[in-house]
Amino acid sequence: MSVQIQVKNVSKIFGSKPKSAIPMIKEGLSKEEILKNTNHTVGVYDATFDIQKGEVFVIMGLSGSGKSTLIRCFNLLNKPTDGSIILEGQDITKCSREDLKKVRQEKIAMVFQHFGLFSHRTILANVEYGLEIRNVPKEKRQEIAMQNIETVGLSGYEDKYPDELSGGMQQRVGLARALTNDPDILLMDEPFSALDPLIRREMQLELLDIQERLQKTIIFITHDVNEAFRIGDRVAVMKDGHVEQVGTPEEIIASPANDYISEFIKDIDRSKVFQASHIMTKPNALVSIKDGLNVAVKEMRENGISSVFVVDRSRRLQGIVTIDDAIQGIKDNQSLSDLIREDITVVEEEEYINDLIPKALESSFPLAVVNENQKLVGYILRVHVLSGLTSDDVSESEEYVY
Ligand SMILES: Nc1ncnc2c1ncn2[C@@H]1O[C@H](COP(=O)(O)OP(=O)(O)OP(=O)(O)O)[C@@H](O)[C@H]1O
Ligand SMILES: [Mg+2]
Repeated sequence: MSVQIQVKNVSKIFGSKPKSAIPMIKEGLSKEEILKNTNHTVGVYDATFDIQKGEVFVIMGLSGSGKSTLIRCFNLLNKPTDGSIILEGQDITKCSREDLKKVRQEKIAMVFQHFGLFSHRTILANVEYGLEIRNVPKEKRQEIAMQNIETVGLSGYEDKYPDELSGGMQQRVGLARALTNDPDILLMDEPFSALDPLIRREMQLELLDIQERLQKTIIFITHDVNEAFRIGDRVAVMKDGHVEQVGTPEEIIASPANDYISEFIKDIDRSKVFQASHIMTKPNALVSIKDGLNVAVKEMRENGISSVFVVDRSRRLQGIVTIDDAIQGIKDNQSLSDLIREDITVVEEEEYINDLIPKALESSFPLAVVNENQKLVGYILRVHVLSGLTSDDVSESEEYVY
């Protein structure tokens, strides 16, 4: 991934002389103090972070924390009072009017919370609007618009009017319209907050699906921490205009930057954020199929374990062998491959803990974690899945259950 947008010391102040408050920000006065002393409102307070090309970057925070003010700086609907926003090397706060128009038409599109559709235009006419104002010939623009209507799953509705569609469908139109200019970056300001929970969940999944197909950079605002962590590759948490922390959902949960963030995320369902790769342990003992039973027994004894995973030369998982079987097998002159048990539960690195729980309940061995090439990358003790999700609080003795 490469950096697409650099936000450097961006502040946005509202009031009659916004710039006059900048020195106070530099001195570290709070939003509250600045309001009291000068009657200026700090929308965004000295924000600095990068956004990577192709990521879903979520801005999360309570009402009034500055999310909309910040996202509107990216297309200069709000001009920052101070600082710079570098889009692919170009500081857009210093753009000419012409260049800005180009950026808005070609690079960045916005999807609004309340859809912002033209009620007197059909769905097709709404979606093609961005191309119409760029004088793209009718046939061409309708072709592109129809493709985007299909992308958001609304084929067949192109001749309807917005008020004939449900809220979720109208929001899809908003998304199709934003996609029509084929922007690199989509700005979405609480796009799903007006939708009921089921439709909202469906739209989140669909957005991720579209994102995977089209590889856009998406900057997405929400005040819902579950939504933020579900769809965000990285999340920025805002409070009083400050960006308090930027990180992946796992990073934020594992080490919240301060008490405010800890409080904010306390209700999050960790099992839907953490994946197998986050809680797995790298195998300390492994045997290869060519090693034979004596090596297998030695490995298990040395590591104090009662079963061990068996892999082939390329570390692809073959199964598991237990110490009892192995000892008996030596007596009976059997080979390792005769004794490999395949009744193990194999999970992928990216599977969410939530989905591992039923598998852990059913399995009699530790879960084997494999990568996309079916190579064994780790194991998860059932007790880790079932007891609060971190390996820290599992005692040493329990390590030896398997
Ligand atoms: N046009 C404006 N004029 C004056 N103050 C503004 C303006 N826009 C925003 N503000 C102030 O900036 C701060 C941040 O507002 P903003 O709308 O960015 O919050 P938000 O995080 O998007 O909240 P919400 O979740 O309610 O949409 C608030 O204190 C608000 O009063
Ligand atoms: Mg807002």
